[in-house]
Amino acid sequence: MNIQDRFEVHEHDVLVIGAGGAGLRAAIEASSQGAKVALICKSLLGKAHTVMAEGGVAAALANVDKDDDWKTHFKDTMFGGKYVNNYRMAELHAKEAPERVLELEKWGAVFDRTKEGKIIQRAFGGHKYKRLSHVGDRTGLEMIRTLQDKGVHMGIDVFMECTITKLLKDGDKIAGAFGYWRENGKFVVFKGKAVVLATGGIGKMYKVTSNSWEYTADGQILAYHAGAELLDTEFVQFHPTGMVWPPGVIGILVTEAVRGEGGLLTNNKGERFMEKYDPERMELSTRDVVARAIYTENKEGRGTPHGGAFLDISHRGADYVKKKLPSMYHQFKELADVDITKEPMEVGPTGHYTMGGVRVNADTAMTCVPGLYAAGEVAAGLHGANRLGGNSLSDLLVFGRRAGLYASEYAKKNSGSVNINENDILTAEKEMISYFENASGENPYSVHIDLQELMQNNVGIFRIEEDLLKAIDGLQKLTTRAKKVKIEGSRMYNPGWHMAYDLGNMMIYAEAIARCALQRKESRGAHTRLDFPNPKLEDAKWNSIVKKGGNGEMIVDRVKSIDMPSDMKKILEETEKEKMSKYTNALSGGVTV
Ligand code: FUM
Repeated sequence: MNIQDRFEVHEHDVLVIGAGGAGLRAAIEASSQGAKVALICKSLLGKAHTVMAEGGVAAALANVDKDDDWKTHFKDTMFGGKYVNNYRMAELHAKEAPERVLELEKWGAVFDRTKEGKIIQRAFGGHKYKRLSHVGDRTGLEMIRTLQDKGVHMGIDVFMECTITKLLKDGDKIAGAFGYWRENGKFVVFKGKAVVLATGGIGKMYKVTSNSWEYTADGQILAYHAGAELLDTEFVQFHPTGMVWPPGVIGILVTEAVRGEGGLLTNNKGERFMEKYDPERMELSTRDVVARAIYTENKEGRGTPHGGAFLDISHRGADYVKKKLPSMYHQFKELADVDITKEPMEVGPTGHYTMGGVRVNADTAMTCVPGLYAAGEVAAGLHGANRLGGNSLSDLLVFGRRAGLYASEYAKKNSGSVNINENDILTAEKEMISYFENASGENPYSVHIDLQELMQNNVGIFRIEEDLLKAIDGLQKLTTRAKKVKIEGSRMYNPGWHMAYDLGNMMIYAEAIARCALQRKESRGAHTRLDFPNPKLEDAKWNSIVKKGGNGEMIVDRVKSIDMPSDMKKILEETEKEKMSKYTNALSGGVTV
């Protein structure tokens, strides 16, 4: 068979899958190195979760707080991640973030300014200094706009509304990707010498989430099937402040910038309850601590009418609020009929981000599959057990660039033509068509709703062994149900078919979360075990690993974290002991066993 006769085929040096910040930055870098680049996205270009990082991009520019430097940013990131971060990623990230932000400015990003005309920076949880460069509360959006402009003008080939369902290999090496056009259901083959995964997160497996429909663990599971490893999947971040009312908007993000600009959290008794959970940092504690605090206040009967906490910024005055938080002002006015310049918001935790994901080399962003790279939320390591706000935007700039650079170098070194096994393409086609085979069965959306319910109730902010086992058992049943769903209609724009495919990815990643959460018998960062409420200090240096076994089974293991060289250890040691003991106290105080 000649695949050209049967399928639409494109050939590039580097394929970038996912067109949020990480994908765009990777594509720009690969293209600037002379590679022919395809940027493939499931949604429209620019419609990415990057825009949900509203409050700012973290980089030690020291424009507002002169004492800031990369070492402090590194320390904050490691402490926020509870020391299971890949130290090398945290080092590169802290060192390179300032240069990446300044480069964006050169490319046209219009950041807010200090009186002296420098990029202004605001406070955010867990950052010692005012470190977040921002554009009001629309930072991610401005970054995407800038990267998009730059990328499009570099001549990158953009393929929109195209879902990749399989990575293709030539022996052990990556060789391309197979997918379909969402509009007409036709299949398409992309040949590529290197592939960068930049598909973002997994949020849609939770009932309450800031994520939109695209975030269904696509890249994580493409990598898993291709032989790459997943790392630390148990660490899922619940952003403390999502909307809790009205019902249609539950989960929509309320940026941390509200607290960064002085927003106060209170319970139904008018108490600033963060005093109990982190008296030093209060509202600007790390996200894991604030999310647990709001959840606990509710469980103990001190929540707001709609099950959250009050968040008030009105004391900053209407002009200031409208200038610094314009999106929040409009969001609450239009969606909840609340004027945040006069009255408090009601907020509660929302599934926002996964710290876990594809395991990569810290310097090159390559997975253990030759030619396969990952960057941004789909990759793991930098954030450890809990990400600091604003570190996602700097992450995608730093490691998006690195992934694009090393992918293009790899493509250059492997410049011969790629061979794709035709049988693999036919199998990929068959798998996608097989969803139409069931003559009867339930709607895939009802399986999705049950998946979200199961994950929210059993693998959420607080976890216990019994619930995790219930989730693993429930996931097996849901996987069986997902195989029997009935798809109505044809392959022409068919959301039911798309969901049937997405379910498979979400189910595998959900199992990886639950199994790793079961394996980690301690509380650390965003992973809180009520049956093991404290971190095990002696166990601080291991990471969870998930990979696909030879019979298709999921293998869950752990590896010792990479050792830190003495110069890096020294940076941490200055404050590690003191901070770790504070963390243990705060955690014990925040968990209701
Ligand atoms: O709250 C926020 O603006 C989100 C930022 C982030 O997730 O980094």
